Parts: sequence; structure tokens; C-alpha cells
Amino acid sequence: MSENENHEQSTVSVIGLGQMGTRLAQAFLTSGYATTVWNRSAAKADALVAQGAVRAATVDDAVAESPLVVVCLPDYATVSDLLGPVAPRLRGRVLVNLTSGTPEDAAGMASWAAGHGAGYLDGAAMSGTRLVGRPEALFVFSGSPEAFATHRTVLASLGNSVHLGADPALAPVYDTALFGLAWGALAGFYHAVALGGSAGVDPVDFAAVAMEHMPFVTSLMSDHARQIEDGRFSDDDGTVAVHAAAMEHLLETSRAHGLGTDVPELFGSLLDRAAVTGHGSSGIASVIETITKGERNA
Ligand SMILES: NC(=O)c1ccc[n+]([C@@H]2O[C@H](COP(=O)([O-])OP(=O)(O)OC[C@H]3O[C@@H](n4cnc5c(N)ncnc54)[C@H](OP(=O)(O)O)[C@@H]3O)[C@@H](O)[C@H]2O)c1
Repeated sequence: MSENENHEQSTVSVIGLGQMGTRLAQAFLTSGYATTVWNRSAAKADALVAQGAVRAATVDDAVAESPLVVVCLPDYATVSDLLGPVAPRLRGRVLVNLTSGTPEDAAGMASWAAGHGAGYLDGAAMSGTRLVGRPEALFVFSGSPEAFATHRTVLASLGNSVHLGADPALAPVYDTALFGLAWGALAGFYHAVALGGSAGVDPVDFAAVAMEHMPFVTSLMSDHARQIEDGRFSDDDGTVAVHAAAMEHLLETSRAHGLGTDVPELFGSLLDRAAVTGHGSSGIASVIETITKGERNA
């Protein structure tokens, strides 16, 4: 196999056409980029080929067709298994790995790619599949700044494509952290809908009002991030003690309506632990300290 032959016919190749990979390839095609695709089950490429994609017969062909190779597979082991045998073909190209994994996975893949002369970007799709290709779909990337600069316009086809920094591990760190953030918000939402429902409130009506509340909540994130950075927790948004008392009301009301109490108990335990460690009269951002110190003494 010769390395990096100059017969590329596409701008980007997508390897792995599952739910996410298919949407990635569609987004590139919709933006007008010549796109080569490969999938283990070849039939999954049919619809994309009908939209103008080129079907590669092998992984080697898929890599050879484009300077930019995007992989989206279940895990890093599968990526290694597929790309290992064609590693020399990656020389001079940029590998973008949108497979979910750990920071260690990303660091290992980046050094493997560097060892084969390829630029590497680790990435994460943060907005599910439905929004892919729209400006509000958040994609985070980390790794080679040069690789991102070279291909940023193509990667912008996917949505709001953000480069986090040169450390390839950053993308999976953000991926898992933002996943937890989304689940925190959604867990609160599901509990709130259940509580509203116990009083006869329609979930859709409730969601409409809840969304009006969210700009206030998101504004707290930037303010509290600054407090955390400074290590000073202003009580402008209420003290830990005040919020703990309000959380007790949520807990009691939930119990009284026969609801599960896991969500308010979790929130209450964070506040209780902050109070026990001396933050009762601090602002609520002080709960960060019980988390960063791993304290479980409440
Ligand atoms: N779906 C989402 O909403 C979403 C959101 C964010 C991130 N992600 C991440 O995106 C990645 C892919 O997810 P997905 O939802 O697209 O998965 P999926 O729909 O289950 O598709 C998996 C893909 O991997 C291929 N594959 C599996 N094992 C393989 C092997 N041994 N050799 C070659 N190909 C193999 C499958 O090929 P076949 O078609 O031949 O089976 C298929 O193309 C995951 O890391 C996931 O965490 C997904």
C-alpha cells in the first residue's frame, strides 16, 4: 500500500454509518462537500449514495479518498480494529474521531495517530442526532489546532463546531461533564413535571413556563463560575441554609403527593453537606467544595 496517494476525490470520508454517522454524512452532503462513506453493512450507505455520496468498497479506500477522515463507531476498540490495518494510509491526513470514550481513550488515539503521521481531533456530538447540520447543534473538538484550522469550514457543516484546545482529552471531558449537566437539568425537569402533574398541570403547559425560567438559571451559571474561580461565594442568590429550607418544602410537598423523592433528596444532600462543612451562610455555589473535596460527611 502506498502512503497518501494523491487521488483523493472527496473532501471528507465518513466511516461508520449508524444513527450518528449517517447524520454527519448527510450534513456534509447538504453543505455541498464531496463525501465518501463506508459502513460494515454496506446497505446503510444506499440512501447517502442516492444523495450523492461515494461508496467506498473498503476502509482503506474510504481513508484514501479524502484529506479529512471522520469516524463514528461504538467505541475506541472498534476504531482501532478498523483503522489499525490501514494506519499507513492516514499519513498526512486528519482523523476526526466522533466516537464516545474516555479522556484516556482520546489521548491514546491521538498519540497513535501522531505515530502514523496523521493530525488528530477528538470530538463529541452534544446535541443528539436530530439537530445535526443546524447551527444550534453543538460539536466539541480538541487536539491539533492546525488540523481544526484547516478543516473548520467543513466541520462547521455539522453545526456549532467549537475547538476546546490542543489537549485531545478535553473533548471527552466536556462530553461527560455536559452529559451530567443535561441530566441534572432533565432530572429536575422530570421531577417538576411530576409535581405539576400531581396538581393537574399539563406537562406541555408546565414546560412552556419552565422554559421562561431557564434564562435566569443559565445566567447563574456564568455568575457562579466566576465565584468558584474567585473562591468567594456571594449570597446574592440566597444562602445554602435558605435553599436547604426551600428544598425541604420541595421534599415534603413531593412526599405529600406520593411522588418519588430521589431528586429533591439528592439536591438536599448537596446543600446539607455544604452546611455541615461550614457553608450554611455562604452562597449556594459553595456546594462545589463538597464535590471537589469528595466530602460525604453529612
Ligand atoms: N446516536 C446518538 O444520538 C449519539 C449522540 C452522541 C454521540 N453518539 C456516539 O456516536 C457513536 C456512534 O453511535 P451511533 O448512535 O451512531 O451508533 P449505532 O447507530 O449503533 O451505529 C454503530 C455503527 O458502528 C458500526 N459498527 C459496530 N461494530 C462494528 C465493527 N466491529 N466493525 C465495523 N463497524 C462496526 C455499525 O455498523 P453496522 O451498520 O454494520 O452494524 C454502525 O455503523 C457512539 O460512540 C455514540 O456514543 C451517538
